[in-house]
Amino acid sequence: MKRSGDPIVMVTAYDAPSARIAEAAGADAVLVGDSLGMTVLGYGSTLPVTLDDMLRHTAAVVRSVSRPLVVADMPFGSYQASPDDAVANAVRLLAEAGAAAVKLEGGRSVAPLVERMVAAGIPVMGHLGLTPQSVNVFGGYRVRAKEAGEAIALVEDALALETAGAFAVVLELVPAEVAAIVTEELEIPTIGIGAGPSCDGQVQVFHDLVGLSTFTPRHAKRYADAEQVLADAVAAYVREVREGAFPGDENATHASEPVVAELETVLPLAGPRRAGEE
Ligand code: KIV
Repeated sequence: MKRSGDPIVMVTAYDAPSARIAEAAGADAVLVGDSLGMTVLGYGSTLPVTLDDMLRHTAAVVRSVSRPLVVADMPFGSYQASPDDAVANAVRLLAEAGAAAVKLEGGRSVAPLVERMVAAGIPVMGHLGLTPQSVNVFGGYRVRAKEAGEAIALVEDALALETAGAFAVVLELVPAEVAAIVTEELEIPTIGIGAGPSCDGQVQVFHDLVGLSTFTPRHAKRYADAEQVLADAVAAYVREVREGAFPGDENATHASEPVVAELETVLPLAGPRRAGEE
């Protein structure tokens, strides 16, 4: 797709409904992002997300799609401690959860690990620019590589990931001009989020697109207000139950007359057969 200039479209998904919607919309790839910490699990960052969280949510997504490439994020702590642990954890995401590839954050510092994973048969997507697992090092979620020094380092990191065998690189929150240069320099595709239109593809967080996030970041576009649609539906249910309008006869099943008659012959039930009197 990079060679033919076809934009690659990737979207995050975390469960069966979001995965089905992503596939039906025609997404080329689905990212089970550790952003699920914020979008689904209610954490303030990606840091508390565990490998077990990623295994469960990745498996749900894999069960729900047939065509898009499913990439699973390696969560914080699952690849930093030792290369052996990292390979073993990535293997679990492929073998147990069914992901086709993993994504991890970092450049030259993780390139030897990427090389080892690829040699072990694990396709790896890189992630540069704003790497949210390093929020405590960066001191916030700000645009990266605005200065020449950091921009040059970003290009070197991207080239190191390519040389190590990564099949694509996410560029998050970097200036469009810098992302365009990285895209030009690499043979593998760049997938941008807040990195301008010159990347080979784009990735967005499902909840930002459909209006299920508490706020919409500048790099995202809210195409729907799903939270309002869902809130209206649940409020209508609450109202109808209180008014006696739901459930209607069409929502009920019925016992035959002989069953009701026989039931009435044994009433009232006595002793321990009566609920709460045992
Ligand atoms: O976790 C995630 O959703 C991501 C994307 C923002 C690229 O890493």
